Amino acid sequence: MSDGIRVASLDDIPQGEGIAIDKAITGTEDDIALLRDTDDTVYALNDTCTHETASLAQGWVEEGFVECPLHSSKFCLRSGEVQGLPATRNACPHRVEVRDGEVYLFPGEAP
Ligand code: FES
Repeated sequence: MSDGIRVASLDDIPQGEGIAIDKAITGTEDDIALLRDTDDTVYALNDTCTHETASLAQGWVEEGFVECPLHSSKFCLRSGEVQGLPATRNACPHRVEVRDGEVYLFPGEAP
């Protein structure tokens, strides 16, 4: 089993915000957003909002959800489930781990 890809340090991601990891690094069809919740848990979702083309890494992260910066749809950080219009499709979640302050991503693996 893979140890994952080290993609960032926890300190690279401000609390309540996100950063996008380029698909050239993740090997996925979309960039992947690393999203640091207000309790410091890090989650990973496909970066492109399922409504249009906004980057979820540019959104607001709070109490288990990320809010799209363009039209304010919310997605569950844990499952990617969409919580409000205008988006109607869930975001794709990926497994992520933080070990010794470093963030490891498992692209394509379920959390
Ligand atoms: S682009 Fe995200 S809600 Fe419209």
